Amino acid sequence: MIVLEGVTKIYHENVYALKDVSLHISKGECCFILGPSGAGKTTLLKILYGLETPTNGQVALYDRNIKKIGRSGLQSLRRHIGFVFQDYQLIENWTVYDNAAVILEILGKSSGYIKNRVWQMLRWVGLQHKVYERAKDLSGGEKQLLSIIRATIHDPDILLADEPVGSLDEAAAHHVMNMLFKLNKKGMTMLIASHREGPLIDLARTINLDKGMTVTR
Ligand SMILES: Nc1ncnc2c1ncn2[C@@H]1O[C@H](COP(=O)(O)OP(=O)(O)O)[C@@H](O)[C@H]1O
Ligand SMILES: [Mg+2]
Repeated sequence: MIVLEGVTKIYHENVYALKDVSLHISKGECCFILGPSGAGKTTLLKILYGLETPTNGQVALYDRNIKKIGRSGLQSLRRHIGFVFQDYQLIENWTVYDNAAVILEILGKSSGYIKNRVWQMLRWVGLQHKVYERAKDLSGGEKQLLSIIRATIHDPDILLADEPVGSLDEAAAHHVMNMLFKLNKKGMTMLIASHREGPLIDLARTINLDKGMTVTR
């Protein structure tokens, strides 16, 4: 379902974020990408979402080469993907409700459906008491929970999550990882980047990245 073949990303001369990385993720898999800060984890996820282009190598999602699908192809592909940004990327002046609902609105869901689904997701992570607060007034942990809602509210086939529990305390991180595993059990394919070994990691496949290269333990 997700294929990288010999992917290299050079940002500047001599700054190799990824070096000849090959990776195959099957439908329904849950895979962690582990590695220290600067290893290339964010770059790898951004390439899969079409936010960065590889300098060399091939990238395919659903057997479609993302270099060749064009702008509209990329947009329709993204309807099936959720992305949790390391820095959240919320719309800071909007309320929690509006940040959560935006993707369902883009997808043209009815307002009744959206209302039910947003409340369901807020209850799921325990954010319902913040529904009318603006994103900018949330704590780091609350922003992270909201960014996880936004990435999963449309029940995507694929979830790309960049340090999704990095701002949460241990109990909350455990709760969120449990929720993500439940989504995976229901069939969501997941690629989760993390700079440290978090809760439940030994239940999943892990790939280690260091200085842009995959390393085997
Ligand atoms: N937009 C960018 N421009 C230049 N260099 C970048 C950019 N993004 C990341 N890098 C560099 O690429 C390398 C990998 O970064 P990143 O993918 O963010 O790693 P990680 O997420 O594992 O911390 C680092 O050396 C980083 O400084
Ligand atoms: Mg990163």
